Amino acid sequence: MTLRLGDRVPDFSADTTEGKINFFEWMEDGWAVLFSHPADFTPVCTTELGEVAHLKPAFEKRNTKVIGLSVDTVEDHNKWATDIEETQGQALNFPLIGDADRSIATAYDMIHPNADSTFTVRSVFIIGPDKTLKLQITYPASTGRNFSEILRVIDSLQLTANYSVATPVNWTQGGKVIISPQLTDDEAKKKFPNGWEELKPYLRVTDQPGR
Ligand code: BEZ
Repeated sequence: MTLRLGDRVPDFSADTTEGKINFFEWMEDGWAVLFSHPADFTPVCTTELGEVAHLKPAFEKRNTKVIGLSVDTVEDHNKWATDIEETQGQALNFPLIGDADRSIATAYDMIHPNADSTFTVRSVFIIGPDKTLKLQITYPASTGRNFSEILRVIDSLQLTANYSVATPVNWTQGGKVIISPQLTDDEAKKKFPNGWEELKPYLRVTDQPGR
């Protein structure tokens, strides 16, 4: 199934390293990052999972849960977890889904047969509290992801959800933001009483709200 931004994502039940879960129940009312990795006992994946475990407090601060997936078994995930802790200095602290029958990988289109007919690619899905897809990125197997970028996107998505702003190129926390073009000037005055700089009528720049 091809998933597009704004689509409601498929719910599923799965065996994980933290027991059986139902995805939507596990998400509760928060945000989620679901990401796949090609295979257990592989080098790039080992570094990625260690990094996500290090970053867990940063995800929690954003009311976001993280969950990984590959088409290996939970038994293999558990064996591999000791290598992750040993080499990355951090134990796994989030669930890894064992998707040996590939049902979730198929529902989320994580297997790209022309890249590899068996293994999942490095997919990342950011899913909002409304269970719709907010971001999807696909990386090749040989490229480890930048999870700081995923946190940056969550910050941007949450600002948009809360304050009717968009974030410009290379935005990071504390940088100027753009008032949503959907807001009229009269509406913007109510939301941004400190005003804005109007570079063009469609490009109104203001301080990041909520800081
Ligand atoms: C890795 O995680 O190191 C990896 C996995 C599949 C292909 C290439 C690299």
